[in-house]
Amino acid sequence: MPRDVLPPGPRLPTFIQFAAWTSRPWGFMDWCAARYGDVFTLRFPRQRPWVVVSHPDAVKEVFSGPPELLCAAESNRILEPVVGANSLLLLEGDAHREQRRLLMPSFRGNGLKFYADTMTAIAQAEIARWPRGRQVRLHPRMQALTLEVMLRGVLGLSEGARLDQLRAELKRMLTTRAGLLLLVIGPPRMREALTRKFLMGQIDRLVRAEIDDRRKADDWAGRGDLLSILLQARHADGQPLSDTEIRDELVTMLLAGEETTATSLAWAVERLIRHPEYQARLIEEARVGDHRFADAVVKETMRLRPVISMVTRQLTAPMQIAGFRLPAGVSVVSSIYLTHRRPDLYPDPECFRPERFLDQPAGPYTWIPFGGGVRRCLGATFAELEMRAVLGTLFSTCTVRPADERPEPVRWRGLMIPVPGRGASAVLG
Ligand code: HEM
Repeated sequence: MPRDVLPPGPRLPTFIQFAAWTSRPWGFMDWCAARYGDVFTLRFPRQRPWVVVSHPDAVKEVFSGPPELLCAAESNRILEPVVGANSLLLLEGDAHREQRRLLMPSFRGNGLKFYADTMTAIAQAEIARWPRGRQVRLHPRMQALTLEVMLRGVLGLSEGARLDQLRAELKRMLTTRAGLLLLVIGPPRMREALTRKFLMGQIDRLVRAEIDDRRKADDWAGRGDLLSILLQARHADGQPLSDTEIRDELVTMLLAGEETTATSLAWAVERLIRHPEYQARLIEEARVGDHRFADAVVKETMRLRPVISMVTRQLTAPMQIAGFRLPAGVSVVSSIYLTHRRPDLYPDPECFRPERFLDQPAGPYTWIPFGGGVRRCLGATFAELEMRAVLGTLFSTCTVRPADERPEPVRWRGLMIPVPGRGASAVLG
């Protein structure tokens, strides 16, 4: 691959670039952007070069470019032992388009109306149980809440032993510290065997048992959960989805939607409780049944603390991006973090100021916490709805103040997710 066509970037040894990026993902990106500008190349050991972009024009070129040239599935491949080969995350081209068509009814219009009530009911029940009058870490409680939304809403599970077992198994999987190591270290067969044994545990069996029971019950018509929708869905050739296809999509949703939403919620609370004026505005708005300000709070939280910092596309053929003709094989990385921190788009970018999104709508290439184009997060509207429901319920049913006035630092966890360093500590009253 001719190096001279690539944009400039650090000349540091590849292992140092890798160490800098993994130890300080945002700090390293800031340093590179300050030194090399809107587009730069990073090089890591045993990897094709990464070309990082953040200008909205370049982001637009990536998100609206031909999907057959910009492959997204390759960078998700390490998740295959968990999500399975039929997962939306791992499909490309026609198969990806077809699978999105089958999943979409659950994530828009009437499909979402079903979830809205479930989310509010779960938020009310969970928050009522949270302790009052003493310091509590809200991040783990948000994780429990969003997991409940997934299990009861998306899978449609009702009270019983299977719900309890699956809840326990998923909690274990999501908190397994060695999880990332299991996914990346060793030859593929060993990785797969270890992941199945230590990470997946009983999850596969429990999800398949639920699919089996619900297929037999044949009562899907009146139900709005994703499992019921997938049991009724038909491929273009009229065939129903197999149990394996349904399992893969359900596990994908559990993985993609739980931690991301919980962490965004934790950051929203961490930011809001340091701004009593915004809290008051949120409570007043909930009282009159509006949600424009809550929406702006959600957008601003996800701008300032994007839980996924970048999205990657691998070029299958040469392509012109950001003024460079990039060769096939490079990974084009749209840096969500850098786009959201651009002062030309967001004056005073470090400042938490939800009003920004009352004054201007969130643009598809300037506000990109959910990625974009044909791969844009399938659960984006679902996640925003859930965040509004939880924040509205929390602030209108209790007072919430910080356990410590100092802002919480960013700590990096699991698959490089930035979480509040003190677990979003607060005192509820
Ligand atoms: C705050 C919460 C969330 C954030 C920040 C988030 C972010 C993202 C991002 C950045 C992508 C990659 C998009 C791209 O490559 O352009 C993605 C993909 C995806 N997300 Fe989310 N997500 C969230 C919640 C959810 C939820 C709740 C669900 C499901 C219930 C979900 C399901 C998915 C799926 C299935 C994909 C793959 C889409 C595809 O490849 O076609 N996400 N998400």
